[in-house]
Amino acid sequence: MSAPAEIMAVEVDDLEDLFEHAPCGYLAAGADGHITRVNSTFCKWLGHGKTAFIGHRFQDFLNIAGKIYYETHFAPLMRMQGFFNEVALDLVRADGSPLPVLVNAAERRGESGNLRFIRITVFNASDRRRYERELLDARRAAERANAELLELNQTLERRIAEAVEARLISERALHQAQKMEAVGQLTGGIAHDFNNMLAVIVSSLGLLERRLANGEDVSRFVSAAKEGANRAADLTRRLLSFSRQQTVAPEAINANQMVADISELLRRTLGESVQLETVLAGGLWQVHADKNLLESAILNLAINARDAMSEGGRLTIETANCHLDEAYAAEQAIASGQYVMVAVTDTGTGMTPDVVAKAFEPFFTTKGVGKGTGLGLSQVFGFVKQSNGHIKIYSEVGHGTTMKIYLPRFYGAPKDSRPQTSDHLALASGREVILLVEDDAQVLSLTAQTLRDLGYEVIGTPNAAEALKALSTHPGIRLLYTDLVMPDMNGRALADEARRRRPDLKILFTSGYARNAIVHNGTLDPEMNVLQKPASMQHLAAKVREIHNSA
Ligand SMILES: Nc1ncnc2c1ncn2[C@@H]1O[C@H](COP(=O)(O)OP(=O)(O)OP(=O)(O)O)[C@@H](O)[C@H]1O
Ligand SMILES: [Mg+2]
Repeated sequence: MSAPAEIMAVEVDDLEDLFEHAPCGYLAAGADGHITRVNSTFCKWLGHGKTAFIGHRFQDFLNIAGKIYYETHFAPLMRMQGFFNEVALDLVRADGSPLPVLVNAAERRGESGNLRFIRITVFNASDRRRYERELLDARRAAERANAELLELNQTLERRIAEAVEARLISERALHQAQKMEAVGQLTGGIAHDFNNMLAVIVSSLGLLERRLANGEDVSRFVSAAKEGANRAADLTRRLLSFSRQQTVAPEAINANQMVADISELLRRTLGESVQLETVLAGGLWQVHADKNLLESAILNLAINARDAMSEGGRLTIETANCHLDEAYAAEQAIASGQYVMVAVTDTGTGMTPDVVAKAFEPFFTTKGVGKGTGLGLSQVFGFVKQSNGHIKIYSEVGHGTTMKIYLPRFYGAPKDSRPQTSDHLALASGREVILLVEDDAQVLSLTAQTLRDLGYEVIGTPNAAEALKALSTHPGIRLLYTDLVMPDMNGRALADEARRRRPDLKILFTSGYARNAIVHNGTLDPEMNVLQKPASMQHLAAKVREIHNSA
């Protein structure tokens, strides 16, 4: 073999190898479509030997769908333009499994335009199909996630509202449960204390009855029954004070003067072992509050302090002007501004945070049975709140306690409206007629009797309508003495109407234990005369006299 012929042979070999083992399938077909040549790669892919292809057409190795496509689309395309590119089809392997492929086909023509053969190039598309499927899956997943997000956004507001609502309901239920617990505690406490007092009254009355029948001295039992009744009255007063339903008669008070006034009483209450000290601020502002209630509040605090200092100690009462700033006031839900502080400090046992948290609750006491009713601080709390003030406990276990009461500053002129009382009874002078209005028949007859005993002439009526009738037929009436809370027309309305008819008529209100839906949230105008039920004979006599004597 000559040298050029040798080189030729090597090149042909090389090309042969390229054709047979290229990473794609090569086929050649004649003008009639019958395969004339096929490379090894293609044979390997389909699992057939070369002879299986020769004389068959490419489309004979496609799956059914591929065959149809080929005949309807690509064979005509081939005839029209002589080629097609990148057509995705599925071949069927010898074992029946599909082989996804991309197929290119092109006619090869000679110089004269005659068709020499058709070249078919086949790319294995297994990987590509898998990627495509994965891509599709991924796209579907993304779309699903997107839809879910959209749905979430749309329902988010509703779901938040539902969650908030559910929480509110459970909070309300909790609050209700706590309230019921407090009410239960309160009811139990009242029932317990009332039973004790009633036992005293009932057994005293029973004894009274028997001794009366025997003609014995019964004053002992009368005073026991009276004491029981008074204690019951005191309990209801304290309860009303806590529930802020007592009638209060606020007046301008100088707290320094008041502390000085009760210091003697305090000293006696505290006993020898407790030292009393007062630190009273100069130029102290006036406060607007019910003087009797403020006195009893301070007395209550002093008694608590004494009980906390069984070994003795020091009680300090301090007064000061002060300003509660916006931040503190908002936090405590009170009005900011100027207040007068009265602080009562002891050097006693102090209170644990737990006790501090419960101290104002009615019937909360750490004192033994029969020692404390647990109403002292709840009464103080009720009074302070009703006076638009504020109360705060500072306490250290083992060191002592400070109770600070803040009462709003009063800007008006001072005025003393305290009734003058003394031991002797102030009697009627001359013929003085009182119109008495009271819806409770028993109280009506009892009060009428008391006033008659004091020398007054009394016209008793059970309601406002009767009272107005009596007013027009008895020109001698000088004083209207009426209950504040009555069905139909209340005492205040009656007084207004009576004054309209008789401008010189004097008015005295009385108010008792019933819940009073009285003008000004249970507070009367300061210039109005009011007598708290049950009033002692002395008080009644003094008050009625005072009013008669006033201009
Ligand atoms: N100054 C104080 N030092 C220590 N503990 C106190 C003081 N003041 C009140 N407490 C505690 O608070 C509780 C409640 O006080 P509160 O005055 O309401 O009822 P009480 O004193 O137990 O009974 P009551 O006042 O009705 O006789 C007391 O039992 C006590 O434990
Ligand atoms: Mg007490």
